This record gives sequence, structure tokens and C-alpha cells, in this order.
Amino acid sequence: MHIISTKNFTTEKIKTWLDLAKKISQSPQNYSLAGKLAGTLFFEPSTRTRWSTEAAMLRLGGQILSMESAKENSSDKKGESLADTFMTCSQYVDCLIVRHPQDNIIQESVYASSVPVISAGEGSTDHPTQALLDLYTILQHLPDPTGKSILFTGDITCSRTATPLAKLLEPYKMQVIVEGCYLKDYNSNVDYVNDIYTKLPEVDILYMTRHQTERSHPRDVSKFVLTNALACTMKKNAIIMHPLPRNAELLPEVDNNPRAVYRKQIKNGMFVRMALLYDLLKW
Ligand code: NCD
Repeated sequence: MHIISTKNFTTEKIKTWLDLAKKISQSPQNYSLAGKLAGTLFFEPSTRTRWSTEAAMLRLGGQILSMESAKENSSDKKGESLADTFMTCSQYVDCLIVRHPQDNIIQESVYASSVPVISAGEGSTDHPTQALLDLYTILQHLPDPTGKSILFTGDITCSRTATPLAKLLEPYKMQVIVEGCYLKDYNSNVDYVNDIYTKLPEVDILYMTRHQTERSHPRDVSKFVLTNALACTMKKNAIIMHPLPRNAELLPEVDNNPRAVYRKQIKNGMFVRMALLYDLLKW
């Protein structure tokens, strides 16, 4: 089994993973992957996804074989296809965790791997583990998000975190609001708005993204900047999320606002990835 696209997740599987993440966060000593080896192949920069995945494996007692800057340091540089890299690397490890800048390439190459593959983000199309940790964080704060609202802002069209999360939230029939950009590959109802300021005091979740400079076209991305004064106009129990990294759109002065949960997202990322690794690799 591979974890590559949120499209293939069943409600049952999502529940299993999130329940397991909670149990692991409460008593990690009960879960062991000692003797298992995971390989990370990152063809694109990463701080949180790579470290949280590697920390997850190590905290479970497993081991990691890590290829950073794989564009430069792997045989990709010599023209090797991702499929051939999968065919090769999957001979050495029990699972592969892969990030790649090209849309759909992990999905198209995974057939060549003889071990499970976890996508750590693929072009602008999907980032399944981020969507799961985002959902996990939302459910911690809003145990029943049915009918609540989520406002996406930033470079939503080129972000790979917004659409997968919106899809995981579909069963909750939330009101999905998008500022400025367009939520691609998403067929359910979306309220597109230009005036974010009147929406802020109404929404339950604000989900921010940075300008995806490495893949967005030179065009107008949201100029919105969240200050602490603006954050304070939001409902008291609303939450502010960001997959990070942030640029200018989210001021550090918001970090201590009780609505800001992006530090929790960071930590939750490790527990959710521990759950995924454990589910895939347990003895
Ligand atoms: C995101 C990513 O890489 O898509 N970061 C992450 O994995 N936490 C968001 C981004 O790069 O903007």
C-alpha cells in the first residue's frame, strides 16, 4: 500500500490513522519499528516534512537512510528516471518517503517500487501527509466541524496543501471560502471572495499559505497580511493555520495569539507520520 494521494483515502482509513496518531502521542513507548529502515528522497527543499518524518521513524526505534537535495545528489543528475530510482532504492529499505517538484510524477513512477511509498509533497497536486496532519489539528480544536467555515488565503491555486485538505473536509459539509485565487481540482461548492476583512470575523478556520514563488506565475497573489490586530477580530475560538514556511503574509506577532495553531500543526505532523509509518511497517 502506498500513501500518495488523498483521493484514495477512505473515511475508515483516515479514522484509523488519526486515532493511531492520538494513541502514539499519548504513549509512544507502546509502538516500535525497531529493525525497520525507511529511506527519504527529497528532490525539493523541506524543513518540517523531512524532519518530522525522520524524527517519527527514529522515535519509533526505526532507522533512516536519508537523501537530501536529491536533484543534485542522486542519479537524477545523470538522467535517471524516478521509476528507476524507486526500483533501486526500494531494494535497500522497507519504505520510501519522497518529495518531488513535478506534478503527478510520484503517482506515475510508484509501480517500480517494491516497498510502500509515502508522498511528502508532489508538485502542486498533492501533499497527503500534510492534509492528514491539518485534519488532525482541526479535529483537536473543532471535534465536530460540520457546518463550520474555513477561509483559504494566499497562493491557493499553486499550493499543494489547500485542495487535499478541502477534499478531506468534504464529509463535514463545511462552508469553503477562498480569497482571490482558485481552488483547483475541487468540484464541491466554494464561495470565492475578494474582501477578506469582512469574512475574518465570521470564519471558524483561517488557512493561510505563502506565495509559491517556485511554481506560481507572475500574477497577483493575495496581498493580505495577517497582523495580530486583525487576528483579534476573529471569533475567540477560531483557529489560524499555516502549513509553513511563512513569508510576509503572517506576521510573527500573531504567534502568541491563542487562535494560532501552526506550532501544533508542526508537532502533530510528527505524530501523524509516526502513525502512517507504524501502520505501513509494523511487524
Ligand atoms: C508546504 C509544502 O511543502 O507544500 N510545506 C510543508 O510541507 N509543511 C507548504 C509550502 O511549501 O508552502
